[in-house]
Formats: sequence, structure tokens, C-alpha cells
Amino acid sequence: MTKLRLTILALCLAAGAHAQPADAPLTPTGGEFTLGPSMTLVADEGLLPLAEYAAEYLKCPVERQAAADGVLSLLIDPAPEAAAESYRLEITPDHITVRGADYGGVFNGLQALFRLLPPEIYAREGLQEPVTLPCGVREDAPKFAYRGMMLDVARTWIAPEALKRQIDLLAWHNINKLHIHLVDDEGWRIEIKSHPELAEVGGFRGGDSPIRPVYGKLDEKYGGYYTQDEMREIIRYAAVRNIEMIPEIDLPGHSRTIATLHPEIRCRFTPDTTLTAGYDDRSAWCVAREENYTLLEDILGEICDLFPSEYVHVGGDEVDMSQWKRCPDCQALMAREGMDDPHRLEDRFMERMSAILRSHGKRTAVWNEAVRTGNLSRDTRVHGWESTRACLDATAKGYPTIVMPGEYFYFDMRQSPEEAGHNWAGIFDARKVYSFDLEGVGFSEEQRRHVAGLQGAFWSELYSAHEPERPDYLDYMLYPRVCALARLAWSGNGDGWVRYYEELRTKHYPRMEAMGIRYRLFPPRLVCRDGVCTVTADDGSEIFYVRDDRPGEEFRYTGPVRTDRPHLFRFFTRRGTGRSPYVADRSYYRTITPRVKITSSMPESGRLPFANAESYRGYSFTQRACREGDWILYSFEEPVRCREMVLQTGYSHLTKNLFTTGYAEVSYDGAHFEPAGELAAGAAVLKPARAVKAVRVVATCHGNGTPFVVIMPPKIKPVL
Ligand code: ACM
Ligand code: ZN
Repeated sequence: MTKLRLTILALCLAAGAHAQPADAPLTPTGGEFTLGPSMTLVADEGLLPLAEYAAEYLKCPVERQAAADGVLSLLIDPAPEAAAESYRLEITPDHITVRGADYGGVFNGLQALFRLLPPEIYAREGLQEPVTLPCGVREDAPKFAYRGMMLDVARTWIAPEALKRQIDLLAWHNINKLHIHLVDDEGWRIEIKSHPELAEVGGFRGGDSPIRPVYGKLDEKYGGYYTQDEMREIIRYAAVRNIEMIPEIDLPGHSRTIATLHPEIRCRFTPDTTLTAGYDDRSAWCVAREENYTLLEDILGEICDLFPSEYVHVGGDEVDMSQWKRCPDCQALMAREGMDDPHRLEDRFMERMSAILRSHGKRTAVWNEAVRTGNLSRDTRVHGWESTRACLDATAKGYPTIVMPGEYFYFDMRQSPEEAGHNWAGIFDARKVYSFDLEGVGFSEEQRRHVAGLQGAFWSELYSAHEPERPDYLDYMLYPRVCALARLAWSGNGDGWVRYYEELRTKHYPRMEAMGIRYRLFPPRLVCRDGVCTVTADDGSEIFYVRDDRPGEEFRYTGPVRTDRPHLFRFFTRRGTGRSPYVADRSYYRTITPRVKITSSMPESGRLPFANAESYRGYSFTQRACREGDWILYSFEEPVRCREMVLQTGYSHLTKNLFTTGYAEVSYDGAHFEPAGELAAGAAVLKPARAVKAVRVVATCHGNGTPFVVIMPPKIKPVL
């Protein structure tokens, strides 16, 4: 090492502000220390909750003596120049000390120590055997003070225990902010004592609830909410784990739940039962109605009292301003104030929110649209989600900005084209997340100064279609994307995918398995050529396959598979709790497009006529929602021989705008129809033994919670 490099290293260590890769070795100081199952842990008085937390994993007693005397000691040592959340982890021949500049620093140092220990400690099993660690020192500090994740509990409810589990997972990754999206068009998830109906009624949709379901089934009442006592316990639980809970009440749009219960908050409200597809222009709060601010003071006042966070997020995204443009009161307000643009009304609304928050000692956080005009005060914190450009714009205006553009950090996006998830912001896996680089995407030095941190998000419109009672889908969508995000937020930049992937597969996968995370493995490589399918995986996983002609069975891959019918095979890998998506030969995905005529008892929409689905290039809308007995008939010009035919009502990735219940009938001659099974998630899936002339799909539901039905093009797989 050259003298210059040594000097730089010394400077970095001295400053304690140069974030290191999480698994970099400690700077060695010579000798070793053996940590045994019979150790004791001592901690400063203020760190006892953290010591109890550590003891849960290490399964050791906690002693209340002077921390400096312990075998494993946790202490706060606030050196004046130390960066927030920085730590010094020191292993000497007779003790281990985790010294933090503050509580967060000790927590981070403890996590760094955990990463040096066998992964089993995450399973709270303690040390089974003594562990010998080389002596050394690491000083480290996060690049960003805000390392966040957002969970949408409004569309899909996450019960307190499941939320606590997610908090544990995030904490192990040094994520320190959980932005919780508590209300939206489809649900209100936090008790407001002065208006108990908001959660008691608005926390449930479908069935006999006035809150329309939109997603899932109409007849099932679905939901839940956090009482304030439950939320206080979650906040405490998160705080022990160095996570600050930041509440969001999404305003003034995305407010259909509260607007259903309090229609008077809308512009010139009139009883109005028109259905919409979800984003509802009549859900926005009227800006000119003074009583609205009294109600908002009640709600936000309770939120401010409940959450200790410095910031409260008040939304501001995707506000449909069409009602404001029609509302005589909003228009009069604009005229009175000389406003020439309805965005000024959003400014006005947000200024009122900020005033309420300020009166409770809080600061305001908003989505990026709310600072479009740049009129909000510069202490407003902006969450840039729409695009990288939106984040660049917010930082250029000088707003402290949480960078979370959907194309890198929306983890509800699918991870490869054939997997579950949204795709509107992109299709990407952890590798793309890890590639995010502020400088590379155009943030100047000045703009980078306004970046307060990075954040991932999981919106849950689709989660309801994936068994919210089980966390598998949530884990699969978040991990390892959260790992990559957390690393970037800690160290500022990635240090090359190859190196990071090596660390993931050799060190972090075993940890995630001990953590019980049902994480996503990268797909194995598949080559099918000359009648042989060969699969390789480089991550220590085992390879399996399923065969379409052997439903319900699963086979272990022990070597190349000889087959002249590769379209029957799908391969995947497992290791521990991880699982890869399926990979298949191109022939598996091949579809045919026989000429088809679509007719229906429901009229077609002018904008998206049935010709769209008939052409296989797009989807169609009906003009109205379904009623019991409504049908869609797919008539093929020539009988179609195929191995599978999927006729989908509603979007294929989202249980919305569908026949929520129904059945299918198939005809082989175009005249006689016979039963072909119930619909599942709006779809008829046929594996016909004979050529099909027509299929009729029939609704048994009355309505689907939305104003129309989506008809996807038939998906037909040929006989090969
Ligand atoms: C958002 O995704 N509407 C913030
Ligand atoms: Zn109005």
C-alpha cells in the first residue's frame, strides 16, 4: 500500500464518514477473540432495549454494569465530530465493543457484528458453538441519513404481527425509515378516535361495506386497521430496531374511502353512484370548503400525536383536478386569489396541511407532483417517484428529496417478463436496482446535496391477488431488491455487480435463509438444443422442473433432460427459503392467433372496442360492468386445435374489471355448448382434447366493483 493510500484510508477512518461495503473485512489488529455461548452482554443504561434485542439473537444474559467492562459491550460515545449513526466495532483479544455516535450508530455496529457471526443467529438460536473472530476494527457511517422503504397497507392490509416481521427484515438491512401508506381509495387503516367510522367502516371493503372493492371479489368483505394502541406498539418495536415510522395520509386525491364516508368533503357534492375504475376524480377534497380543514385538523392532529416522526407525509400524488375545474367554490377561490392554474389550488391545499402540521411541531413530506409549481416552502421534503427526471427537478428546485423513481425502486414491478407484478414503471431485478447511480443518472454535485436519501416502495394493488395472509409474495418481490437498495443507501454507490452478486450468493443468501425470507433467486440458465435441455445455476441452489403433461408432480434435475417436446418443461431452483422463477424454452411461450370474433351481451366501448382483443394486439373494454348472466362469446373462424386456451376477463396481472365469479362453456361444433369449469381470477383455462369452435364465458356475479369489464385477447398455445 502506498503512503498516499494509507493516508487516505486513515483520513476516511478518522472522519468515520466513508461508507464501506457491509462485508468488507475489519482492519486487522492481530490476534483473535472467541465469542462463546456463555458470554454476557453489557450496555449503557439508554441502550438496554437494544441490548435486550441483541440478547434475543445471541441468547445471552444482559448485565447492567459499566459497559466498558463487558465481554460484549454496547455503548454510546458521542464524539463531537462523529457522523450520525456512525459506529466503531472493535474486536480485541479479550472483548468486543460496539461504540456508536448515537443509538442508531450502536444499532448499525451491532448489525455489522451480526454479519460476522454464523447466519443462524438471525433465527434467534444464539451461538451453538464458540466463534473465533480475528481481532480488528471497523469504523463506518451511512452515506444517507434516510434509507427508506414504503409499504402500502391501504390496498392490502398487513396485520401488526406481519408488519413487525417486515420491520425485522428491514432492520437487519440497516433500513432506518418505514414510510407507511395508511390510506388510499380502497382503505383507511389507522384508527382516528375523533372519527371512528374512518377505520371501523373504511378499513373494510366489499360485502356490505360502502367501500367498493375494485380489487378482488365483490362479495368478500376484506380488510383491517391498526388501533392507535397497536400502532404505538409497532412504532416502539420499530424504534428499538432503529426504524422511524413515517405516516402518510394521502391527500387531497386518492381519498375515495373518506369521500365515501364523508361525501361533503367533495366539490359541490351531490349523491352520485357512478362507478369508476379506481382512481376516482370525485375523491379529491374540495379546496374551497373551509369545514374540510377542521376535519383534516382532527385527523392530522391525531396522527401527529401518535407518530413521533419529524415528518408527516400528506400525499399530493395523482390529484385529479377535474372537479376543481368544475366547482364554483374552487373557481371562485381561484378568481379571488388571482390563480391561473388548478395546481395553485393544490399548493393552497398543501400550504394549509403544512400549517396544521407545523402547529403540531411537524414538517411536511409530499409526493413530487406537489412541488410542480415550486411554490411550497423549501423545508418540504419531496418523495420523487414518477421518474428520475422528477427527482432531478425537485433537487434542482432545492427541495430535500427522497429519491425513489419507480423505474428503479418500485418493487411491485415484476422482475422478468413472465413473472407476477406490475410493469408500468419497468421490469427489473436487483441487478438494476444496484446499478442506480446518482451521478450516472445526471444529478449534479449541487443536486446531490439535496438528496436526503433513497427509498424503495411496494404498492399493494396486486398483493390482494396473491394471498395477503401469506408473506411469500411480498418477500419475493422485496428480496433481494431491498438488499441492493439498502446497500446503495448505506454506501452511496454500488461497487460493481459481479462483486456484489458474489457477496449475495455466498454470504447473504444463507443469512436470508436464517431470516426466513422467501426471497427470489435469479433464474437459472437454460439452453434447449438438439433435443437436450441443459440447466445451470451458480448460486448453490438445486434445480427442479415441472412438466405440463404431469400436473401436480415435481422432478429433481440431475442432468440434461432429453426431450423432443421442450415446451412441456419449466425449470426452477430452490435453496433454503429462496426460489427462482420458472424458466422455459421459447416454445413454451409460443402462442397462435387464430381468427376470432368476440361478441357479448355487454356493449363494447368506443375507445377500446372488441376488435382490439380480436386482433391479439390489445385489450378491450365493455361499456358497463357485468350483471348476472352476462356473457362473452369467442367464436373461432375455424376450429382451433391447441394444448391450452386462456380466456381472461379483467387484466391478466390484476384482479380488477373482471367477472369476479362465473363459468365457461365450450363448443366443438359452434351449436352445442358443454360445461368447461368455473372461472379462476376471471379466467377460463381450457386444455381441450378436441378442436374448439367457440367458448362462452358467463358471469354469475352482479357487478364487479368497477364500471366495466376488461377482455384480454385469447392466449392460445399450439399443439407442438
Ligand atoms: C404514487 O406512486 N402514486 C406515489
Ligand atoms: Zn371545490
